[in-house]
Amino acid sequence: MSITIVILAAGQGKRMNSALPKVLQPLAGKPLLAHVIDRSRRVGADDICIVYGHGGDEVRAAFDDPELRWALQAEQLGTGHAVQQAMPETDEGNRVLVLYGDVPLLTTETMTRLLDSCGNDVGLLTVGMADPFGYGRIVREGNVIVRSVEECDATEDEKRIMEVNTGVMCCPADRLKDLLERLDNDNTQGEYYLTDVIAMAVSDGVPVVGVKATDQVEIMGINDKRQLAEAERALQRRRVEALMDAGVTFADPARVDIRGQLTCGKDVFIDVNVVFEGDVTLGDGVRIEMNNLLRNSKIGDGTVVRAHCYIEESGTGGHCIIGPYARLRPDTDIAENVRVGNFVEIKKSRIADGSKVNHLTYIGDATIGQDVNVGAGTITCNYDGANKHQTVIGDGAFIGSGVQLVAPVEVGKGATIGAGSTISKAAPDDRLTVARARQTTVGFWKPPKKKS
Ligand code: UD1
Ligand code: MG
Repeated sequence: MSITIVILAAGQGKRMNSALPKVLQPLAGKPLLAHVIDRSRRVGADDICIVYGHGGDEVRAAFDDPELRWALQAEQLGTGHAVQQAMPETDEGNRVLVLYGDVPLLTTETMTRLLDSCGNDVGLLTVGMADPFGYGRIVREGNVIVRSVEECDATEDEKRIMEVNTGVMCCPADRLKDLLERLDNDNTQGEYYLTDVIAMAVSDGVPVVGVKATDQVEIMGINDKRQLAEAERALQRRRVEALMDAGVTFADPARVDIRGQLTCGKDVFIDVNVVFEGDVTLGDGVRIEMNNLLRNSKIGDGTVVRAHCYIEESGTGGHCIIGPYARLRPDTDIAENVRVGNFVEIKKSRIADGSKVNHLTYIGDATIGQDVNVGAGTITCNYDGANKHQTVIGDGAFIGSGVQLVAPVEVGKGATIGAGSTISKAAPDDRLTVARARQTTVGFWKPPKKKS
């Protein structure tokens, strides 16, 4: 049977105290709702329908994906009413799995376990909680689930039940539709509770299969910034632990943030305060020193990224040394055994094997050959105020310190450029080119004297 996942995301999230709708608050760099959608895909949902309400247009605009279905819940009349809004978007022959947009840490393993356990019956994900206050309690007779009761509607005895409703539920669509149509709002909150379908199913003679989540963190709902921060650490911990199991060494697993997908080779070392964003790949033996940001980049085997670098949309080959204090801007492609030193900014450039750009330099829109040495304080003047121009430096060239290369310009193979030169015409292969004013010493010059 195909599966429709219905994600409830119409709640306002007042406690966030934010102009941004709750389900758009970022966790590990992407909206809460995006986590739930991604997991829904991974669990094999055939359709995903999001019930939205508060901040509706903003939420829809954030997920510009034609495959998603949307159901508007104009007024928030309860979780049962919310799921009902999704039923017109749901094929009758499907099974429905209900998730919450603000419960981002539920694993695909748990979802699969629930789906596999309940078949055509009603399935309910529950969890044991030391402090169940505020949650719906699962009432069993013997071992059999008979209903779920909200905190505010529970008797004192029921409030002592430690098994709670996580809100995650599954049911065949035709059955769910029928159950939802029979819901009423005759309760303390005057809401249409999704949880009431449990007792109704039981009285219809449909078994309710309870599956217990192993980990409370999985079903954690995010309502305020404190819980958001707690979820962030829990998610980071999960990611770092998976990497440690695969052999990555972290100086401190609590002081690293992975906001995307980090892929590591063997014997990678990551020091404290490193942030990874988007897709980052580190080859075997890579060392990332403290205080680095790496975004959508690939670092080759044995390369060391020294402290305080900012690397985005770039790649390095093996055995390079980058930094400390280097900035690689988008579309920087560095080959093997290259050194990029402190206070060097490189943008949209290629640097071939064995070259060195070690100090206080800007390289933009350049192609640099092999074994080139770029002296301290060199600048490619790539922008004329309207357009960007290319600089090409041949293999084995030596660029002295404090050189300006006024693009478009070419420096030949094996050429040497004298320190302090402003180069605006091609410099030939294997020759010394100097372009600076000659030094003179004024013979009869006397220093000025102070007037008395
Ligand atoms: C719900 C459950 C409770 C469970 C708890 C787990 C019901 C009646 N209660 O309670 O048993 O222990 O979750 O966290 O289902 N939403 C809508 N439209 C609405 C109401 C809610 O889209 O009209 C969405 C919210 O945005 C949220 C989710 O549904 O994502 C849950 O709503 P919430 O109000 O937090 O339910 P709880 O009172 O926590
Ligand atoms: Mg809640």
